Amino acid sequence: MVTISDYGDFQKMAKRNVMVSMLGYSAQKLFRGARERMVSNVLSNLHKSVTADPHSPLNFRDVYITELLGLSLTQTLGEDVSSVYVEEFGREISKDEIFHVLVHDILMCAVMADWREYFPYLRWIPNKSFETTLFTAEARRNAVMRALIKKQKERIERGEARTCYMDFLLEHNSTPLTADDYQMLLFLWESILGSADTVLVSTEWTMYEIAKNPDKQELLHQEIQEVCGGRTVTEEDLPRLPYLNAVFHETLRLHSPVPVLPPRLVNRDTTLAGYDVPAGTQLMINLYGCHMDKRAWDSPEEWAPERFLGGEGFEVADRYKTLAFGAGKRICAGSLQAMNVVSVAVARLVQEFRWALREGDSGKEDTMQFTALKLDPLHVHLEPRGRV
Ligand code: HEM
Repeated sequence: MVTISDYGDFQKMAKRNVMVSMLGYSAQKLFRGARERMVSNVLSNLHKSVTADPHSPLNFRDVYITELLGLSLTQTLGEDVSSVYVEEFGREISKDEIFHVLVHDILMCAVMADWREYFPYLRWIPNKSFETTLFTAEARRNAVMRALIKKQKERIERGEARTCYMDFLLEHNSTPLTADDYQMLLFLWESILGSADTVLVSTEWTMYEIAKNPDKQELLHQEIQEVCGGRTVTEEDLPRLPYLNAVFHETLRLHSPVPVLPPRLVNRDTTLAGYDVPAGTQLMINLYGCHMDKRAWDSPEEWAPERFLGGEGFEVADRYKTLAFGAGKRICAGSLQAMNVVSVAVARLVQEFRWALREGDSGKEDTMQFTALKLDPLHVHLEPRGRV
């Protein structure tokens, strides 16, 4: 896959493919309709839930995941599906289960510890439960991916081409792939995982902070009103919404979806911050540590979007002072998509509703899994703003 391959010709080719077909500036324009549909569906489902039961808190994650996964599937495979029949399971599985098998279960595996890592001389002892969990998750992931791909293979065989990553890979890849190749399965799975997970993590944390900080929520709403009046926020409005942009970057600082960057290999002896680092060392950059460093940020534990608004000595590059998307040649391929989806979703969610946390939920900020998913799903009270 792009993310875990060493830097080299294969990785460069794979990253180019994903940028050209899906995540780069021009490709993003092709999926704008799908992104708009996704946000509109989230809003209409939230309205339905609030109308049906205005007083109970609702689970934001449940509503958002379904539509976000729909967007990932549309971009990756050309079709959103509400369920799929998985031969190995002998049954049809729902979208919720697809998300769990393809995203959540694997990311939980990524943080499982194998005690043998700490005692390498005992590596010969089998760790059956660890291996069983891992191989089961992998087998289930493969089964669901094969089922999703099979459906699209049939579509392609019927002559129905779609604008999506899978069709692009089949037509353009410099190393020819077929729909049945395991390499194809991995590329497509990486795309679904990448676009569904981190965007969920960052949207949920943003809405948590917004619901927790009513004054800042009103500042954001005021900015949206001034720029857009009664009309719906679109991606074109983003450059004229500096507070929204600050909310996005501040949330990525305080709740970085990827708290530790994937490892770097030091390829020659070097000196880093006064330390001699020999060639062959693996380095992992602790983003959480960088973003909470008191020497770099005033009161780093506070959610304060204002710090990204400028003032004296402000430079545009400061907005990228967080390393939330990584840096250098391996910088995140999906940062534009993340910004488009999260910013427009947040703006429209605030445009439509006044947000408040469920009683007693302020301060529930623990995380789980490989990316910093909120441990307790966000539960909120929503009051429609009655926009004209
Ligand atoms: C807020 C959302 C996101 C955050 C915070 C994020 C963060 C990151 C980080 C920290 C890295 C590692 C960068 C490094 O090692 O320097 C990365 C890599 C990557 N991300 Fe994202 N990401 C996000 C959204 C997305 C989306 C929507 C996609 C779309 C599929 C995506 C696809 C990738 C890919 C393919 C790589 C590997 C790039 C490479 O190895 O060259 N990301 N991301």
